[in-house]
Amino acid sequence: MYEPKVIGFLCTWCSYTGADSAGTSRLKTPWNLRAVRVPCSGRVAPELILRAFDQGADGVLVLGCHIGECHYDSGNHRAAKRIPLLLSILEFAGMQPERLRLDWVSASEGDRYARIVSEFVDALRPLGPNTWRISGAAPRTGAAIGVPLPLVSGLSGGAPCP
Ligand code: FES
Repeated sequence: MYEPKVIGFLCTWCSYTGADSAGTSRLKTPWNLRAVRVPCSGRVAPELILRAFDQGADGVLVLGCHIGECHYDSGNHRAAKRIPLLLSILEFAGMQPERLRLDWVSASEGDRYARIVSEFVDALRPLGPNTWRISGAAPRTGAAIGVPLPLVSGLSGGAPCP
């Protein structure tokens, strides 16, 4: 049975700790998510998301602190502006919008973390494997995630967090 591969960019101050809370509370979360700990959701540059899709991710989940609770004050505001814009570009380029999601999870919200990840994976299953690639290359099979690709030319790394 097909199981989607999900890359989760989790802000270290809230969402990553929320994932920890889910684990210590022994809440069931899908195994599909491979967590990437980032300092802030505002640090998740569009290039990182594009590279995750290009390297075989079926979905990308970006989780940060709730609005007003960002450790760097406005990092999640940046993500809240940037990711919907990227989503509309990806949709225009032919990707299903369900494959990218931005949400907020605080350190104490293990149950919310488990629910969001479960919902996301459940929404991905009917879509099947992601065939969209920025490079135009054929989708890679097997354990594509983790195999480094050269940087996509013409894309910048994004601005640093304030
Ligand atoms: Fe968590 Fe900025 S520190 S979103």
